[in-house]
Amino acid sequence: MRTTVGIIGGGPAGLLLARLLHRAGIDCVVLESRDRAYVERRQRAGILEQGTVDVLRACGASERLDREGLTHHGIELRFEGRAHRVDLPGATGGKSVTVYAQTEIVKDLIALQLADPAGPPLLFGAEALAIEKPDSAAPVVRFRHEGREQTLTCDFVAGCDGFHGIARRTVPADRIRTFERAYPYSWLGVLADVPPSCKELIYARHQRGFALHSMRSPRVSRLYLQVPNDTDTADWSDERIWDELATRFAVDGEWALERGPITATSLTPMRSFVQEPMRHGRLFLAGDAAHIVPPTGAKGLNLAVSDVVTLARALAHHHQTGSTELLDGYSATCLRRVWQAERFSYFMTETLHRRPDQSPFEDRLQLAQLDRIATSPTASAELAENYVGLPLS
Ligand code: APR
Ligand code: PHB
Repeated sequence: MRTTVGIIGGGPAGLLLARLLHRAGIDCVVLESRDRAYVERRQRAGILEQGTVDVLRACGASERLDREGLTHHGIELRFEGRAHRVDLPGATGGKSVTVYAQTEIVKDLIALQLADPAGPPLLFGAEALAIEKPDSAAPVVRFRHEGREQTLTCDFVAGCDGFHGIARRTVPADRIRTFERAYPYSWLGVLADVPPSCKELIYARHQRGFALHSMRSPRVSRLYLQVPNDTDTADWSDERIWDELATRFAVDGEWALERGPITATSLTPMRSFVQEPMRHGRLFLAGDAAHIVPPTGAKGLNLAVSDVVTLARALAHHHQTGSTELLDGYSATCLRRVWQAERFSYFMTETLHRRPDQSPFEDRLQLAQLDRIATSPTASAELAENYVGLPLS
């Protein structure tokens, strides 16, 4: 097989890149190791920045998002029994966020790609095994599909295969730097068949740990609890989960957490990670393949989208003019935005979670930080600006 851009990974990064390239008249092939049902079932975050919604709209992938997405104009911070609302449009010149699950975006992009007979091939069950000669003019992706080993010869390879993929590991160790931080806690996440007990997301800082109240629809709630890294989800009965959530969300005044049947439980470790540069020869890394953020800032998906928008633009520029200028600038352009998201995600995480060894001094600092956001329009605007998303460069 031969194509212009070989895309490894059919998550949001790879699928959206395929869509953008197709619309720019550039051939590509997407190789996804898992089957379609697995990819469509995977539960991930669900907050879209305005820029992400705009990109999906511009490439014709927003029909259901426009119908079912929930526009949110604020988030709530809870601490010490207090509730503080951060007004997003007020602080950002009118910007807001949209609640729409990543898994729904993946379903929409797959359906669009498969519905278009002239669209780029999307192979499920196609596991990339190696990327050969990434720094040559014609890199080759070796992959296994339907029990056979095959090759895909490309002009460019896009490594969109997530944190556990092969793309970032293909780059020789002496050509990269990695930056990493592991956190001493995880998120226990649940999906519950109960209307959300709030209109907007609640981020709660409690002495017993962080909790987040999010949602998937007017009938389905998504909630998270900070738990130790070695947690066995079997130790968490539904009742224990609801009790702990109710404790951590407790607030002065009238408010109650509605309970309902829990339909799914997950455990997510928290990690910050960046691999630099995001390019090696003709191999370009995008999304989780190049960086991970802890989910507290809701930035993972949005960063994957800004990477592939930057990459698609650079590839289109090369296609039209022969110039490699934007491709040469790809890594530096993306990394500027990536590090802003790393900084913000780290800030949200460290401000709202309690480390097991946290000192009373650090507790006081966290509360002072939250009090600052609650009382200073400048501090509140700084949070809001980052939460709705920095401009796509
Ligand atoms: N060959 C083919 N496909 C692969 C391979 C491989 N060797 N290794 C991994 N994959 C596939 C995975 O099965 C997955 O579907 O690559 C895809 C990577 O998708 P994601 O992990 O969703 O990463 P990305 O598209 O960058 O999206 C980033 O995902 O983890 C969340 O919070 C993160 O929202 C962010 C988003
Ligand atoms: C989610 O809805 O899954 C979600 C929302 C906000 C976050 C993280 C996850 O910060």
